[in-house]
Amino acid sequence: MKIAVTAQELSAAIDEERDLPGCAALKVAFVPTMGALHAGHLSLVRKAQEYADLVVVSIFVNPLQFGAGEDFDKYPRTLEADAELLKEAGADLLFAPTVDVVYPAGIDMANQQAARNPALQSGEVGKTFEGAARPGHFDGMLAVVARLFELVQPDFAVFGAKDAQQVFLIKRMAATEFPDLHIIEAPIVREASGLAMSSRNRYLDEAALTVAVQLSKAINVGKAAAETLAARPSVAIKAALARIESVPEAKLDYLAVVDPSTFEPIDDAFVGRALMLIAAAVGSTRLIDNITIDFQEQFA
Ligand code: PAF
Repeated sequence: MKIAVTAQELSAAIDEERDLPGCAALKVAFVPTMGALHAGHLSLVRKAQEYADLVVVSIFVNPLQFGAGEDFDKYPRTLEADAELLKEAGADLLFAPTVDVVYPAGIDMANQQAARNPALQSGEVGKTFEGAARPGHFDGMLAVVARLFELVQPDFAVFGAKDAQQVFLIKRMAATEFPDLHIIEAPIVREASGLAMSSRNRYLDEAALTVAVQLSKAINVGKAAAETLAARPSVAIKAALARIESVPEAKLDYLAVVDPSTFEPIDDAFVGRALMLIAAAVGSTRLIDNITIDFQEQFA
């Protein structure tokens, strides 16, 4: 596996592959990450391998998407171990840029430039759910993802479904800014307990892990209510709420059901596939999860 730090090294490494005999039309799949890799990330690499000949993974902890008081400084940075895992997973190229490679004019300027670009605004959707809890997070996320797309110029980009609101916003941005790029959403990878894998799970001790598991348990209760007992969305939410509220150590932020095509909450008339979202703090660690729920038409 090659490692590139600068933009020049990145494009030289990709060009080198394209210059190989018969590889001029080689397809590139891209997996952007912030490192602290786990099995969930490695499943994104495998998904990328299904689509393309060359898989590029980036590791960059993006300062623009962390608010004041968030965990930017303590976010786990484990580059050596990550590189090892990526090598084993068969990734072709690791792009691990420094801040000045991603934002050559500086962070403040990058922020200002992104704020002037309407395509990089997360808008109303970016102010709800995760965006309400983390003001500015999604604008910073879109800024870095667009910048990484410019640098890597992939044919495919793979994101994990756990960050459903992020994927929604990236798809919307890419549709206008990178119309030839295919955004692939890969399923959530879970621990045997049901806990969705996340780099932030490293912050959880054993007691906190038993609380964290309750997020996935709660949304599964909501799903079962809807799909087995034909509950409408409001009733499915109540069932899931009852479950999570029985665990006071999990400080619930939101539990909602949205239409995945708009990311807006649905009402009880909704029929089709929706997404139940949950976010809660376990100690000082913020966790999110989601699950699809099929709401059937009801006949009187
Ligand atoms: O999901 C993440 O890890 C980050 O938000 C991303 C997409 C790599 C952008 O920094």
